[in-house]
Amino acid sequence: MKNNNRLIIVSYRLPFSIETAGGSTTVKASAGGLVTAMKSLDFSEAREKPIWIGCADFSRRTWEKHQHLVNDDFEYVPVFLERKIQQDFYNGFSNSVLWPLFHYFSTYVDYQERDFIAYQKANEAVSETVAQLLQPQDIVWVHDYHFMGLPKLIREKQPDATIGYFLHIPFPSYEILRILPYKVKEYLLTGLLGADLIGFHTNDYNIHFLQSIQINLGVQHKIWKINYQDRLIQSDSFPVGINYSLYHDSYDNEDVIVEREALKTAYQNNKIIFSVDRLDYTKGVMQRLDALEAFFRKYPEWIGRLTFILVVVPSRDEIQKYGERKVMIEQAVGRINGKYGTLIWRPIVYRYGSVPFPQLLALYTACDVALITPIRDGMNLVAKEFVAARKDHQGVLILSEMTGAANELSTALHINPMDENEVADKMKQALEMEPEEQARRIAIMQRRLKEYDVKKWASSFVESLLTMQNTQNREPTP
Ligand code: F6P
Repeated sequence: MKNNNRLIIVSYRLPFSIETAGGSTTVKASAGGLVTAMKSLDFSEAREKPIWIGCADFSRRTWEKHQHLVNDDFEYVPVFLERKIQQDFYNGFSNSVLWPLFHYFSTYVDYQERDFIAYQKANEAVSETVAQLLQPQDIVWVHDYHFMGLPKLIREKQPDATIGYFLHIPFPSYEILRILPYKVKEYLLTGLLGADLIGFHTNDYNIHFLQSIQINLGVQHKIWKINYQDRLIQSDSFPVGINYSLYHDSYDNEDVIVEREALKTAYQNNKIIFSVDRLDYTKGVMQRLDALEAFFRKYPEWIGRLTFILVVVPSRDEIQKYGERKVMIEQAVGRINGKYGTLIWRPIVYRYGSVPFPQLLALYTACDVALITPIRDGMNLVAKEFVAARKDHQGVLILSEMTGAANELSTALHINPMDENEVADKMKQALEMEPEEQARRIAIMQRRLKEYDVKKWASSFVESLLTMQNTQNREPTP
């Protein structure tokens, strides 16, 4: 980053949590993909620390008392929303309208006017914070569906601002957006058009967005460029990557080796199929369980010889659709274990909770097959992490064609998650695949992931944004 370009990041979550236990307070850094990406950017020449703005999940009092504990390469600015606004903004409009709709779960959409009002208020509050901090040479990078209105709100306050926006979930077909009231569509689409650069994971999402602005707003575009209100906007695809070397090199970590050996000993007479997802209806866990049943039905010779380790990580548990899903999954696991299990063998080992990093890496590298079956997923980083982790060049990835990652992971066994027979057949193919073929497939995917890792993703987005800054003749004065 050039020394006159300070970066301002905006995301729903700040990359740390503040925890108080037994009278003492600690700050825990988060380890998600976005944090890794932002921390991978090179700020060594920057005159000032980059700023990270996000919604606080702690009180103003806690922050005032403990902010000195948060001390790293970023300056953090929490936005404190009223409790009710925060609820309706996050659980309501963001996760009960935009999330289901953009993942094509249109019947799960629960549109309430008050939630949309809260969404606008939250976007407005964050735009005030950005505007107070923004200096002429800064670049702003807004993340995800929580802040689709933000680019326009910032531009209204600072017409010359340089603004990038990246959507981390799918952008659906324009037909899907039709479900929303016109004023909502207009708010979201014109909101995004406040940016100079709009990024998506895949070309398809980009095309859907371009069709949506053309059909809903009559805004024209040509080869990823949009002329709108005398400004040039670029809209493009930037598939997010992972920290490849972290996952690849961990294969040899002592704690990973210990965990892997423990798994191999525990399951020495069985092949292992593994999956890990946040608890979300988009992830296709129920379809995966149906496919497992179909597999045992079609190929009973595998009964007693295969263990499916299913890890489900709690998420958004205040929302009814998520709570319901947990019950459904647990009933299905119980039913399948009851039906096929014996006194000495269980087909499914189920864990509801997160797993520590060494255990996760041990699962990635001890399993024979990773089974990833989302019904719709913007990207799916688990698939990429699994491939990167296989330093031994073994293991087979079965991957839903409905994920953004399927474009890049071309030598995975692709499946349609609705087709339980196809998934069952691919499970058999994967379990019986020769080691040479496993190695060939993994190596091809690893080359791609190594080349286009998270650092490349973040830096190529920022470079494109700086190019747009120059194009708009908003070059900062030296
Ligand atoms: O994929 C979109 C996303 O918002 C991620 O950025 C995030 O890690 C995940 O969903 C979980 O979301 P939440 O912040 O609601 O727990």
